[in-house]
Amino acid sequence: MLRTHTCGELNRAMVSQQVVLAGWVFSVRDHGSLKFIDLRDRSGVIQLVCSPGEMSPELVFRVNQLRDEWVVQVKGTVVLRPPETVNPRIPTGEIEVKISDLLILNSCQTLPFELSSPVQTGETIRLVYRFLDLRRPQLQKNLLVRSSFVHVLREFLIEEGFAEIETPMLTKSTPEGARDFIVPSRLNPGRFYALPQSPQLFKQLLMVAGYDRYFQIARCFRDEDLRADRQPEFTQVDLEMSFVDEDDVMSLTERLLHRAIKKTFNVELKIPFPRINYQQAIDHYGTDKPDLRYHLTIHDYTPVFQTSQVEVLKKALQAGGVVRGFTVAEGEKISATDIQEFDRLVKERGQTGLGWIRFRQDGLQSPLKKFLEAETLQALRPEPGSKNTLFFFLAGAREKIAAVLGELRTTVAEKLYRLDPYDWRFCWVVKFPLLEFDPEGRRWQSRHHPFTSPFPATIEALDGKPEEITSRAYDLVLNGTEIGGGSIRIHQRALQEKIFEIIGLPREKYLKQFGFLLEALDCGAPPHGGIALGLDRLMMLLLGVSSIREVMAFPKTQKGVCLMTGAPGEVDEILLRENRLRVELPQKSEQ
Ligand code: AMO
Repeated sequence: MLRTHTCGELNRAMVSQQVVLAGWVFSVRDHGSLKFIDLRDRSGVIQLVCSPGEMSPELVFRVNQLRDEWVVQVKGTVVLRPPETVNPRIPTGEIEVKISDLLILNSCQTLPFELSSPVQTGETIRLVYRFLDLRRPQLQKNLLVRSSFVHVLREFLIEEGFAEIETPMLTKSTPEGARDFIVPSRLNPGRFYALPQSPQLFKQLLMVAGYDRYFQIARCFRDEDLRADRQPEFTQVDLEMSFVDEDDVMSLTERLLHRAIKKTFNVELKIPFPRINYQQAIDHYGTDKPDLRYHLTIHDYTPVFQTSQVEVLKKALQAGGVVRGFTVAEGEKISATDIQEFDRLVKERGQTGLGWIRFRQDGLQSPLKKFLEAETLQALRPEPGSKNTLFFFLAGAREKIAAVLGELRTTVAEKLYRLDPYDWRFCWVVKFPLLEFDPEGRRWQSRHHPFTSPFPATIEALDGKPEEITSRAYDLVLNGTEIGGGSIRIHQRALQEKIFEIIGLPREKYLKQFGFLLEALDCGAPPHGGIALGLDRLMMLLLGVSSIREVMAFPKTQKGVCLMTGAPGEVDEILLRENRLRVELPQKSEQ
């Protein structure tokens, strides 16, 4: 070993010990008679002190050469710092190492950005020089916490009888609602593998094969529009269990997260997590990913406005619509300009405008003031003693206004509260509709994936009323972000075929695409179910950062490009020929 200790493990109990360290020069400070170097390795930073007067000229020469990020090996003695120079902000702040020898292991060119100061560096340059960016203590912390977290997940799952099994990367399409990334097969000209969007079908087949409990920290690939919480390749904590129902999978997931969060962050989660029915989530929060850190719960006010003569409300109600809205108790925090901004938002989402009433002790304000009946206002009036209460509402078709109110609720909350990213509010969303109607394709499609089981009680609706079928799926949501999803699966061939038919897959097509699964279901498939947690998203939220790129070592940009390696790149003509591929780029005008 080039070292006897790491920088971060040194402490005051080691005073007078001779140590050999190796690491990067984090910063150099010249105080004339003394020179201080912060030496950094993965474990932390230690201050080295050099006193040129007591060193050989050759050692002084070497120390004088040092620049940021040079790599050195240092011999020295651990000493206590003089009291006035103790730095309580770092764990090694009470001590320093007095250098007796130093070897330069490597130099470093001038850096494109500084690593030691917290100055904001543009993300593009950070991604080009990701190997430098990854040296920053913040990113190192993120990745190391992620590593410990995964370690606890593995430990827990193994204890619970799960087997870790890898599934193929070169495979056939595994439909999860995104486009596939495809890989040409040289040995089978004209044929392509698809990279897995998830290990869904394989984990089900492992249950058919009798493995009982499977898990995998699985890479998944999806060619879809990228956002702060989406990458083209990402990691799932993927589980599948035989002979279970929803409660078993949800309870295991809760215990898994409880253990991993306790061990990694020393926070005790309250389990079980609340469960919210899909329809209730849509009605009360306007989304199936509710953020439960704040209330602003949406309610139905249709009866209150039933006899209203206000033209827009009357029209909406006559058309079978509803009036729904929410109340802000801290109305004084919302200005007239804020309301204009909210009004713009709902108009951009296709609404005629935002209804609002401000109740103050000295009267009320509302664009509809002149038109609202006394009984309506009486019914909406807040509790006596309220100083400034704002009531926001929209009228229209229930589903349409739900999403707009949901977005408005989030926007208002961002204005009102300083939301704490570490206030972790998990919840389950359950009882989803199995299918949704795709107006463009004019057909039913699966809300999750087509292998999700319907509730037995709703199976009758398969013939004729697909909208009434409820699924045995469950989504896990944390602070308004979906961090996981799973379901009890279909384990009988006849039902699986029926679902394929309802979603408009011709028999010929589903036999070709999923024949192996149907055969497996016919060969004694046990009842089974599972879940996949989006590991990157979960880490992003637990670490309180705003993008999953901050918790991945080598992420891609919004356009799916790796700025460091230059992927995706062009391919040699020979390789194209070997794979029987010809590239035809669109004309400039088509691009
Ligand atoms: P689903 O498609 O819901 O379920 O994916 C599970 C979780 O993976 C995360 N996720 C992503 N994270 C980063 N970038 C992406 N592009 C991305 N896409 C999804 C989300 C999501 O909740 N096979 C099923 C699971 C099952 O039924 O067991 C599946 O993949 O956090």
